[in-house]
Amino acid sequence: MAKFIIAKDHNQVGEIGAQIISDQIKLKPASVLGLATGSTPIPLYQHLVRLYQQGVLDFAAVKSFNLDEYAGLSADHPQSYHAFMDENLFSRINIAKENIHILDGLAQDPEQQCQSFEEEIKKAGGIDLQLLGIGNNDHIGFNEPASVFICDTHVVDLTDSTREANRRFFSSLEEVPTQALTMGIRTIMAARKILLILNGQNKAAAIEKAFLNVIDPQVPVSILQLHPDVTVVGDEAALGGLKKQAPSLFASS
Ligand code: PGA
Repeated sequence: MAKFIIAKDHNQVGEIGAQIISDQIKLKPASVLGLATGSTPIPLYQHLVRLYQQGVLDFAAVKSFNLDEYAGLSADHPQSYHAFMDENLFSRINIAKENIHILDGLAQDPEQQCQSFEEEIKKAGGIDLQLLGIGNNDHIGFNEPASVFICDTHVVDLTDSTREANRRFFSSLEEVPTQALTMGIRTIMAARKILLILNGQNKAAAIEKAFLNVIDPQVPVSILQLHPDVTVVGDEAALGGLKKQAPSLFASS
């Protein structure tokens, strides 16, 4: 059963999340991390950078795989997830360049790119800890609501609601890519440990649907009910409603 932790605010969501990742790296310095982008993980990355600067954390042996990337954006496009990761984390810690894996939004053969990404994850020994955010529409990575769960890393058409949600990072809706490359549901579920972070009232309905209802590919995040080691860290605005409706979920926190 998932473990739920309520933090006092967005910053503390990041602090607790960074501590969980830090514990993982201390336990296994050559950890394989699955990483996420978006507004939610920014404070978490700030806390990881602080722990690195304080000499508490060493990323020299860490390998990383990012959840997703926009199709059609080059690595140096300011809104690419390559650029996001570089700015918020990689340029500030001692991770080795060759240990960073992010799907290439400009790949000539995206399907082949997705396949070799899966192979790289296997070669690295699988993901030890996967960090996830949750979309307003219940996506994880860019696994959008659909009639079936798509297992492996794949190319996906972004829904209007995702493009609308991410429009704030672009100057117009037209500039938001219409497709992305994303880890699949099986790729995510194969991680040994999952850390899902969320904050704000606008994520409350999504997390409630995820854990109060049956598992449904229209609610991609609901698949996490089947994962044996999930920790959900969110603020009161995001998790308070779930706690009210299902206090037993929080019994172990
Ligand atoms: P956000 O995105 O952190 O910017 O809200 C989360 C997601 O879409 O997975």
